[in-house]
Amino acid sequence: MSASLHVAVLMGGWSAEREVSLMSGKGIAEALESLGHRVTRIDMGRDVATKLTEAKPDIVFNALHGTPGEDGSVQGMLDLMGLKYTHSGMVTSVIAIDKVLTKQALVPHGIPMPGGRIVKSAEVFEGDPLKRPYVLKPVNEGSSVGVAIVTDDGNYGNPIGRDVAGPWQEFEELLAEPYVRGRELTTAILGGRALGVTELKPKSGWYDYDAKYTDGMTEHVFPAQIPDTIAAACKRLALEAHHLLGCKGASRSDFRWDDERGEDGLFLLEVNTQPGMTPLSLVPEQARHLGISYPELVQMIIDEALA
Ligand SMILES: Nc1ncnc2c1ncn2[C@@H]1O[C@H](COP(=O)(O)OP(=O)(O)O)[C@@H](O)[C@H]1O
Ligand SMILES: [Mg+2]
Repeated sequence: MSASLHVAVLMGGWSAEREVSLMSGKGIAEALESLGHRVTRIDMGRDVATKLTEAKPDIVFNALHGTPGEDGSVQGMLDLMGLKYTHSGMVTSVIAIDKVLTKQALVPHGIPMPGGRIVKSAEVFEGDPLKRPYVLKPVNEGSSVGVAIVTDDGNYGNPIGRDVAGPWQEFEELLAEPYVRGRELTTAILGGRALGVTELKPKSGWYDYDAKYTDGMTEHVFPAQIPDTIAAACKRLALEAHHLLGCKGASRSDFRWDDERGEDGLFLLEVNTQPGMTPLSLVPEQARHLGISYPELVQMIIDEALA
């Protein structure tokens, strides 16, 4: 076992994914203690720099999700403070949290992603920005927060109604993307290799916030029952995206696969640079299938940050 460290676990904060982050942080802190490390738990507030200065940790384990925490701001602060931290650095985080910048960085390198464009929310009340079905989603949220799937049958009205609950009420601008029918796949990268492919099968509806975080609402199939060519493509694309963006530690790439279109139907949706680390989350689950326990996973992420 490596030397005992003093690790500050940064969690919580004020993003839309605060609750998920608190669960990730709890799991990570307990794992670190089980490994013999000393842990300072920090629920991030505006005084985070003061807390870190007082704690003087050897390293910061970033267990934050969303904005702030996954967006580069915290990474920049930690850089200025001269503190080592887990996962991706500032520039990578700034790009990866933004679904438009991610496309601009990856598509020219041949990574297939759905087309799309930014629309002012007010425009969607005038008419559809894309042919139905399509997806409207915030540019820089996570956990499916604010994602609306606009179906052919006019689930939000046709045109979308101003008074119908949806992300257009909360966000001034949204990313509109063609809806990719078919299946939901995800691949984790850890220690510079792709762990595998999980298929997510929500028991009803689509892979929204509740389907992600309510135990039993989504079946996780590992390894995904898909052709070898598609599994290989997911692993290759997730690894390429990880390297092109300059990710460090663990990342997780989300895909949609239109199984009527073979390999041409595979699209990367996004790269998560601060993937969920609750004991039920996908990265720990893929690691476990490969014989890597949750504490071992946490130690591997620490080791990569120290290297
Ligand atoms: N273009 C798309 N086609 C089909 N489903 C989509 C599309 N974009 C998003 N979704 C659905 O919304 C979920 C969340 O979208 P994603 O882009 O991964 O954002 P985040 O996970 O950061 O909220 C996806 O897992 C998928 O179920
Ligand atoms: Mg996602």
